[in-house]
Amino acid sequence: MKQTLSFDDVLLLPQYSDIESRSEVSLESSLGPGLDFNLPIISAPMDTITEWEMLREMSKCGGSGILHRYMTAHEQVRQLVEAVARPGSGPVGVALGANEPVAVRAESLLGLGASYMCIDVAHAHHIMVKRAIQRLRGKFGSDIHIMAGNVATLEAFNALSDWGADSIKVGIGGGSICSTRLKTGHGMPTFESILQCAQSDRPAKLIADGGIRKSGDIVKALAAGADFVMLGSLLAGTNETPGEVICANGAYKKVYRGMASREAQQDWRGSVSSDEGVSHMVYLEGPVREVLNDLATGVRSGLSYSGARSIPELQAKAKFVIQTGAGVIEGTTHIKER
Ligand code: XMP
Repeated sequence: MKQTLSFDDVLLLPQYSDIESRSEVSLESSLGPGLDFNLPIISAPMDTITEWEMLREMSKCGGSGILHRYMTAHEQVRQLVEAVARPGSGPVGVALGANEPVAVRAESLLGLGASYMCIDVAHAHHIMVKRAIQRLRGKFGSDIHIMAGNVATLEAFNALSDWGADSIKVGIGGGSICSTRLKTGHGMPTFESILQCAQSDRPAKLIADGGIRKSGDIVKALAAGADFVMLGSLLAGTNETPGEVICANGAYKKVYRGMASREAQQDWRGSVSSDEGVSHMVYLEGPVREVLNDLATGVRSGLSYSGARSIPELQAKAKFVIQTGAGVIEGTTHIKER
């Protein structure tokens, strides 16, 4: 049986660097022609993360957002128009399910300013995803960028690429609000999925999704071969997420929930089948721009420790080592107890 690695199991070796300032480090990444970004960060298509405000702010900050799909087609159009009607908006994505008339829905969204489509399902190595991608390709040819996911294995990554996906979300069951692994016994540590999928000889871009808790995890994901990371929990609680701010005992909080949680399923489909996620209150974080700035500063610093001025240079130079549990403890802030 193969042993797998999680983010905490590995560290990047510091290497000789001639970078004198973090401003020399570029975090540019691309999904493909016309889809270039200054920041390799995409906000997750979840109903407590990405609606019009997050879409707009993510693109203003140099990253991208993907409008979630847990709303009517009409409401999705309304949200998209709200996000892209102003000048200066960068490329934004829109999520679709696999069992809906994707081509019809995509046509109006693309006409209104969506830059790419994302077939967003929990287990994408699936015949319904194959059909949905093929329907989109059949209608639009190579004119559109199709993202699809999620997958956990190289075999699945290659299959989705062969079905026609231009970019693929990698990671099953590792998200902060996920209970898929507990409920189903299936999944793979996200870092291991990235490592394995990055071995692919297919052209699809790799989006690391689920379980990214700090800027160091972003650096590790990029170094292991991801082109972008997708974030939920790190952006939860920012001013731009949907949902009310609740004040309890002097603390300001918002809800962050898995899309397969009981609460989310009840809201979007009116019933619950298998709940594979949880719902939590998180502290209000302030503007997403500040959170992204903090993350970008940490990631730039990370690249400079590997002596890399760009993401491709990081991927070429990165040297990973495996650490023990004692190493994890040593690497976590620890103060002597008296
Ligand atoms: P983070 O760790 O950034 O993860 O909060 C966000 C990602 O988690 C996935 N997701 C789910 N996975 N049950 C799951 O097993 C769920 O209810 C659920 N909702 C979201 C998704 O890939 C997201 O980007």
